[in-house]
Amino acid sequence: MGLSTRQDTFLLAFMLFCTLVGPGCGLTCEVCNGPEDTCSGKMKQCEQGKDTCAIIVSESHEKGPYVSTVKACMKSRDCHTGYVSTTMGPNNYMVTNTHCCQSDGCNRGSVPAPQYNRTVNGLLCPSCVVPFRDTCAATQLAQCVGQETHCIYLAGRAKAGIISAKFATRGCATESACRTKAGAEVPSASYHYFLHRADCHEATTLPYGRAE
Ligand SMILES: *[C@@H]1O[C@H](CO)[C@@H](O)[C@H](O)[C@H]1NC(C)=O
Repeated sequence: MGLSTRQDTFLLAFMLFCTLVGPGCGLTCEVCNGPEDTCSGKMKQCEQGKDTCAIIVSESHEKGPYVSTVKACMKSRDCHTGYVSTTMGPNNYMVTNTHCCQSDGCNRGSVPAPQYNRTVNGLLCPSCVVPFRDTCAATQLAQCVGQETHCIYLAGRAKAGIISAKFATRGCATESACRTKAGAEVPSASYHYFLHRADCHEATTLPYGRAE
């Protein structure tokens, strides 16, 4: 079954248009999320400005280790391939393994679930987790583990469908977490995060007494 000449012409025009408009035009990515170390779903065309397909596999703690996967379209400035570990407190952590790519359907595969290294490394960070507010005072110290050498402060809004709530969180992170910048839009299996704040600095071995 060949394409009709008309369809051919249309396709050619579309491709030519995309070449002129540049990257991002008509990128299609697999889109899905679920409580497993991979997921599969439909191929969808990305919104304008989202020029990257992503696979993000996460492990967090919810009555035990909880692994989930999201595949989505993202902006290249918000997508960072590699491993990120964050620890807000004992049994309050999130590790992710992310793969970013920029061709149609390139996120159809899967990536290994991240391993959480629980060995404390002697570094400390101010810590807090506050739902429904977008600032939080560090009331506790988190003990950093594994390769976590930095402290982060992330705040913004978490959206799930039409529900949107402010959140703020601080704790230890791998240096790779510092690539996340304010303004980033980051999907997860349960929420779509809009970050208003993404601060990052080196962790210390002494209790942290910096004024807010
Ligand atoms: C886990 O983290 C500790 C402390 O940083 C490090 O010494 C150890 O090599 C890490 N283990 C693995 C398997 O990466």
